[in-house]
Amino acid sequence: MNIGPLHLENPVMLAPLAGITNLPFRLLAKEAGCGLVCSEMVSADGLVHGSPNAVDLLRSLPAEKPLAVQLFGSDPAVMAEAAAIVEGSGANLLDINFGCAVQKVIKTGSGAALMRTPQRAEALLRAVRHAVRIPLTIKIRSGWDGSGRQALALGEIAEACGVNAVTVHPRTASQKFSGRADWEVIAALKRHLSIPVIGNGDIACADDAVRMLSQTGCDAVMVGRQAIGYPRIFTEIGLRLHGKAVPADTIANRLKVLRRYTQLTVECFGRKTATRLIRRRLGWFVKGMRNGAVLRSAAGQITCMDQAYELIEAFGREN
Ligand SMILES: Cc1cc2nc3c(=O)[nH]c(=O)nc-3n(C[C@H](O)[C@H](O)[C@H](O)COP(=O)(O)O)c2cc1C
Repeated sequence: MNIGPLHLENPVMLAPLAGITNLPFRLLAKEAGCGLVCSEMVSADGLVHGSPNAVDLLRSLPAEKPLAVQLFGSDPAVMAEAAAIVEGSGANLLDINFGCAVQKVIKTGSGAALMRTPQRAEALLRAVRHAVRIPLTIKIRSGWDGSGRQALALGEIAEACGVNAVTVHPRTASQKFSGRADWEVIAALKRHLSIPVIGNGDIACADDAVRMLSQTGCDAVMVGRQAIGYPRIFTEIGLRLHGKAVPADTIANRLKVLRRYTQLTVECFGRKTATRLIRRRLGWFVKGMRNGAVLRSAAGQITCMDQAYELIEAFGREN
């Protein structure tokens, strides 16, 4: 599949997940066969003002490419400046957040608030399109009510502004993550636009991804929550898209992923920062496994990486 001039090896993408899709997480997703990985959302204001927190989020490695970086913000001039910084950092695609429904973001006019202010959205997209040459995408919700009308209207504006693809997570802003994603909105958007439409929401297994593609006609699927601790979802979707059976996962494989994520986190951040990050994150990878809760709670207490390695090996012996 192509997004503008960017060719993707497969139509399966990692969703931007704040606090989760950092560099090691993305490398893991890529190794599992994900076609396009995405950063956490990055504040345009932060980037323009050189905030280390924002700038650090742009760190990348060739092995994860192609990489999408997502920006959030509401001021067209600031967004254009931040977009140029993202392009200069070597990202292969720029995505703009039109879907975040967190109050802190909405009240600045960013994220899903932009779906309520189409004129501002248009000015922002024109400014950003003018500022960068890399492919530009937006990620939206269905809108403020369940009808999906705002998604169609915004999709139209985006297409007219030269945006190369639209991702839709078809829940309303007020729904946040409750209820079910309404895949009919994905289908309606696909019928409405000529640029590629990427479907997102409630893909919990490989068969869901295949079903979303066939039911909605969307060009690609994006996986969020199911990928947390389970990057194998990308391998499984790839197998199903090639008509192959998905073999059951094994404990040995889960342990391999756990060790690999730990190793990548140390390589990317060094042992000290890795210890802090791993504390909260090891538990993601053992969800539903025997003694998983024990590992999660012990991981929260570690003070160095040697303890993390010991925990993982002890967990392996007990499973
Ligand atoms: C912890 C968490 C963080 C998220 N962060 C972002 C973000 O930074 N940018 C964004 O556009 N969406 C964000 N989302 C929404 C996801 O990208 C995705 O649209 C949503 O989870 C639905 O997909 P899923 O059902 O596959 O999880 C986040 C979701 C979660 C659960």
